[in-house]
Amino acid sequence: MAALRGVVFDAYGTLFDVYSIAKRAEQRFPGMGTALSVVWRDKQIEYSRLVTLSDPSAAGSRYYQNFWDLTRAALIYSLQRLSLQHQPSDIDDLMSGYARLEPYPECAAVLKAVRAQGLATAILSNGSPDMLRIAADSSGLAPVLDHIISVDPIRQFKTSPLSYALATKVLQAPAESLVFVSSNGWDAMGATWFGFRTCWVNRQALPFETIGERPAHSCETLEGVLAMLG
Ligand code: LAC
Repeated sequence: MAALRGVVFDAYGTLFDVYSIAKRAEQRFPGMGTALSVVWRDKQIEYSRLVTLSDPSAAGSRYYQNFWDLTRAALIYSLQRLSLQHQPSDIDDLMSGYARLEPYPECAAVLKAVRAQGLATAILSNGSPDMLRIAADSSGLAPVLDHIISVDPIRQFKTSPLSYALATKVLQAPAESLVFVSSNGWDAMGATWFGFRTCWVNRQALPFETIGERPAHSCETLEGVLAMLG
């Protein structure tokens, strides 16, 4: 097996709690906060796949919009889908919350411990460069991240192989020398197919994906990454 060179983390859902926005949504739309956070996340991911699959060319999708814009579009769809009467200020407030999502409590210590083992730490995310920078700064994780990699320059979202290849390019390391960590089962699947050693952080106690091979490791919180590294 190739020697390990680094650990690459998905951002949304893995380091940053996308469902923490439910609290803010609940204040604006009592009784509907959780539902809104779930529909919103699903639509956001659906749009990312829609624009990528509809034009998977290496030059980037002609339908591409950055993840911030897709997230806003998905929010507007979700408010309509759930018949929630809203003002522009509701959208602005929820987007501003999305820019500064809470990190999961164990993230900083785990990232620090990974670096203490001499391994590089990175984010590889669909997020636009600006939103990733703000999330990393506001969560306090920026100092323990060596690289923050956005798919934005290639205008293709995960699970496009070109998106995963960005991590191998930036870290200058082959896929088999990198651990890829995601709480999103589909992302762990795509990363496994790409050739990374994968760790699925199964935060929601979901079943394994029923296609493809299983990730090399699975765990309940990010602390499981340290167990995997041994
Ligand atoms: C990301 C989303 C997909 O950070 O979770 O790439």
